[in-house]
Amino acid sequence: MAAEESRCLLGHAASDSCPRVQNKKLYLATFAAVLGPLSFGFVLGYSSPVIPELRKISDPKLRMDSSQASWFGSVVTLGAAAGGILGGYLVDKVGRKLSLMLCSIPYVFGYIVIISAQNLWMLYFGRTLTGLASGITSLVVPVYISEVSHPKVRGMLGSCVQLMVVTGILGAYVAGVTLKWRWLAVLCSFPSCIMLLFMSFMPETPRFLLNRNKRSEAIASLRFLRGPQADHEWECRQIEAGVQEEGLNLSEFKNPSIYRPLLTGVALMFFQQVTGINAVMFYAETIFEDANFKVTGDSRMASVVVGSIQVCFTAVAALTIDKTGRKVLLYISGIIMALSTALFGLYFKMVLSNQNNSSNPDTWFTLNSASPGTESGISWLAVVCLGLFVAGFALGWGPVPWLVISEIFPLKARGILSGACVLTNWVMAFLVTKEFHDFIGFLTSSGTFWLFSAFCCLNITFTAFYVPETKGQTLEQIEAYFRRS
Ligand code: BGC
Repeated sequence: MAAEESRCLLGHAASDSCPRVQNKKLYLATFAAVLGPLSFGFVLGYSSPVIPELRKISDPKLRMDSSQASWFGSVVTLGAAAGGILGGYLVDKVGRKLSLMLCSIPYVFGYIVIISAQNLWMLYFGRTLTGLASGITSLVVPVYISEVSHPKVRGMLGSCVQLMVVTGILGAYVAGVTLKWRWLAVLCSFPSCIMLLFMSFMPETPRFLLNRNKRSEAIASLRFLRGPQADHEWECRQIEAGVQEEGLNLSEFKNPSIYRPLLTGVALMFFQQVTGINAVMFYAETIFEDANFKVTGDSRMASVVVGSIQVCFTAVAALTIDKTGRKVLLYISGIIMALSTALFGLYFKMVLSNQNNSSNPDTWFTLNSASPGTESGISWLAVVCLGLFVAGFALGWGPVPWLVISEIFPLKARGILSGACVLTNWVMAFLVTKEFHDFIGFLTSSGTFWLFSAFCCLNITFTAFYVPETKGQTLEQIEAYFRRS
């Protein structure tokens, strides 16, 4: 039985020959946890429909100019960076389950502050709090899912994190077409409340429990997650074999089993953001407007289209990742993004070449009013590039970095090392969105997109040399791989 079970969990046998391992409760636990990323998607998507409304609102204390609007959008990333640090501490101190449940406090409190806002500072504060909750969520949920899963489904379940993020973004865009900003905030606070409720019925991860020497609770957790028939003792022993002494001291950072996965994780997060995803998403409406895709007087539909592409292709990645592996998806994604950003650059070169001030950032944002007719013939190219770029990101560089950082760190340092990666991700997201405008001023629009393209080529090289293939391996085997190398 043990041999068969081990073959099942290690992914060497077809699931129908593993009758004892049941996945239903594992899927339930994953569902409860990914309500966190759904909430974080709602936070990311909230600003897009709300900013145009707040820029025109009659109350002068809440009305925003363009700089205030950009802070309203980006302050979330700063809150999330802080959330990464806090999450890294919490996840190892109080556990995965409790950290996740605690996230709902800043989510709900943040939305209450937004709903009752009397001035801009309250709006910023509410956004920072929801950002903080998003940062903690983005760290804890991948760790929770990878630790409750087994190798046969870990890629698929781990990719559901990103799937729910993009579903949340799309949900906010769609709801924002009809709901006013306060009501939208009420709606956005729901997923975190439901997560709190559902998670209270879910178990702590067996790995965290074993690391705390709570063996009987770990067995109970495995019984819940794998069903009563599975060989819980066998899996417990496998995890215990990989569990080392608790705590991490500074001198251990010289150890390749710590610094190698840390560098890989931080680099993955850096490279995810320098693809320019957040800058492109943020300005998607402008691109669609230019191509005359403007619908019903505003361009909110553009965001809905972009959000839908993300959801579809992230779902494709989630369904295929355990068969194709992580690296193949990163390659395909990197190649599509490198080509689409290069084409984007070419598009701007062609459209703006007749204008003297092609390095003026504002030119980029007013393409549809500038020299009408010049660009309309090829404006479809911008829309195609945008669609390709977003689809490419969703296929690999969106979900895979979050999945891989939840797989490669040794158990005893998982919190702190994941925290460093989450911090890198959100600080980079802040810098890229905030500095995008300045980059256009400095490098011109085409130069900026070619820079993104160059980074995508670097991503591909980095994947080839530094990203380990984690498909079908247990977390303990991945840990052993880094220890050996
Ligand atoms: C990235 C975010 C991005 C989101 C939606 C995530 O994987 O980390 O920066 O906004 O995907 O595309």
